[in-house]
Amino acid sequence: MMWNRKYLLSIDDLSIDDIYEIFETSKSMKEIIKRPIKKVPTLRGKNVCLLFYEPSTRTRMSFENACKMLSIDTISFSRESSSLKKGETFLDTLLNIEKMGVDLFVIRHSSSGILHFLKNFLNSKIINGGDGTNEHPTQALLDAFTIIEKKGKIEGLKIVIVGDILHSRVARSNIKLFKKLNADVHLCGPSTLLPKEFENFDVKIHYDLKSAILEADVIYVLRLQIERQFSNFFPSIREYNELFGIKREILKYAKNDVIIMHPGPINRGVEIDSDVADSNSSVILEQVENGVAIRMSILYHMLV
Ligand code: CP
Repeated sequence: MMWNRKYLLSIDDLSIDDIYEIFETSKSMKEIIKRPIKKVPTLRGKNVCLLFYEPSTRTRMSFENACKMLSIDTISFSRESSSLKKGETFLDTLLNIEKMGVDLFVIRHSSSGILHFLKNFLNSKIINGGDGTNEHPTQALLDAFTIIEKKGKIEGLKIVIVGDILHSRVARSNIKLFKKLNADVHLCGPSTLLPKEFENFDVKIHYDLKSAILEADVIYVLRLQIERQFSNFFPSIREYNELFGIKREILKYAKNDVIIMHPGPINRGVEIDSDVADSNSSVILEQVENGVAIRMSILYHMLV
């Protein structure tokens, strides 16, 4: 399937060729970011609405910066100061904003799959900035790009995704993308946060961290979504940290050159200890850096 470039809602929208084309363009975008004047006129006159219905630092600000560097004008939506507070529906809000001359929406929302509903009513292009527990495709793309940059390839690498898989849209997009690029994908977490259904993704499931990360090339740590832990998924944060937290001493089971990744924001001392997050093995801030280039590349391919 070829990407129609009107929507990027899921990793399923992309073929392998599309993915590598996004990566190639991202390399050129990285060069622009490193210039003293970080701006090109390529997409002058285009208009993007950043519509974040849930909190975000990295995704929202990297999209905003990516737009600025490509000379795209942006408008931002703030839920708190919008007419949603007066009872306007989310769909009516979007239909009104679209009429203001928007070419593309970047949307983050707490409802899984809502963008598939909205696309039936909007003429504009749409990028998924994270929908509920469903998908976060631009995060997965920047993650795979970072792995290839650090390791020279992704095919055949043992990638272990650790933590709160159940609530993670990042996990769902990353599993799909890493599998599509022929990585050896393993999942690890407490059974309450890693249901058996994930075996349907054709990945290996582990409930013991040491055996999971044996000879791992990449350990991808997920944020424990404390705000979503409304049921008792595990006895305490301390126990979670002891059993599934990534600590320096556990890294001896992985390969010597293992890289540690995390989508952010990190909970220090919960899913990852500070001495690992801040170590030379960590590429967490390089992921953030690559996030701007990947989003520039996606915007370029969708708007040019
Ligand atoms: N990784 C990520 O989506 O971070 P934000 O929630 O800050 O956008």
